[in-house]
Amino acid sequence: MTPTHQQAPVTGIDGKLLRSVCGMFVTGVTVITSGSGSQAAGTTVNSFTSVSLDPPLVLFCLHKDSRLRAVVEESGAYTVNFLAGRQEPLAWAFAGKHTATLDGVDHHYSSANVPVLSHAMAFLSCRLVNAFEGGDHTIFVGEVAELGVPSGESEPLIFFRGSMGCLEEEQRGTHPMFDA
Ligand SMILES: Cc1cc2nc3c(=O)[nH]c(=O)nc-3n(C[C@H](O)[C@H](O)[C@H](O)COP(=O)(O)O)c2cc1C
Repeated sequence: MTPTHQQAPVTGIDGKLLRSVCGMFVTGVTVITSGSGSQAAGTTVNSFTSVSLDPPLVLFCLHKDSRLRAVVEESGAYTVNFLAGRQEPLAWAFAGKHTATLDGVDHHYSSANVPVLSHAMAFLSCRLVNAFEGGDHTIFVGEVAELGVPSGESEPLIFFRGSMGCLEEEQRGTHPMFDA
C-alpha cells in the first residue's frame, strides 16, 4: 500500500530548497549584540541553541560575511536577546544591511560591558569560549555570564516559513516545569 503522506525525497541539495525546508522548523527570534561604544552592533539570528547546563553553554551560527563577525571575535563576548512578540520591526531592522548599529535602539551594558537590548523578552550575556568553522558560517559557543528577563513580557516572537508572528492565546500552554 502506498503511504499517503510520504515526502518526495530530493538528493541534489540546493541552498534555496534547504533554506525553505529548514524554514519549516519553528524557532524563536533573537538579536545577537556585541561590541561597545561606536562598535556596538546587532544582527537578527534564529540559529540559537542551548548546549550545556554545566558549564552553561549556548551557541549561534553567523554567516562569514556578517558585519558582526569581527565585532564578536574582537570583543570576545556577545548577548543573545530573545525578542518579544511585538518586536517584529526590530527583528527586520537588524536583518538588513543598513542597521547593524545600536544607535537609536534602547540598550544598556551587562556587568562585563556587553550590550543588552533593554526591551528584549529575556537575554543571555556570554563570554566567547570557542568558534568552529561550519561551511559558510561560524559557530560561536559562549559561556553564559549573566542573564535576565528585563521586560517581564513572556510572549515570544516566532519565525516559521519566512514569516514572523506571535503565538495565538490558545497555543501558549503552560508546563509545571517552566511555570512553577
Ligand atoms: C528570522 C531571521 C533569522 C536569521 N538567522 C540568521 C542566522 O542564524 N545566522 C546568520 O548569519 N544570519 C541570519 N539571518 C540573516 C541576518 O540577520 C542578516 O543577513 C544580517 O542581519 C545582515 O547584516 P550583518 O552583515 O550586519 O550581519 C536571519 C534573518 C532573519 C530574518
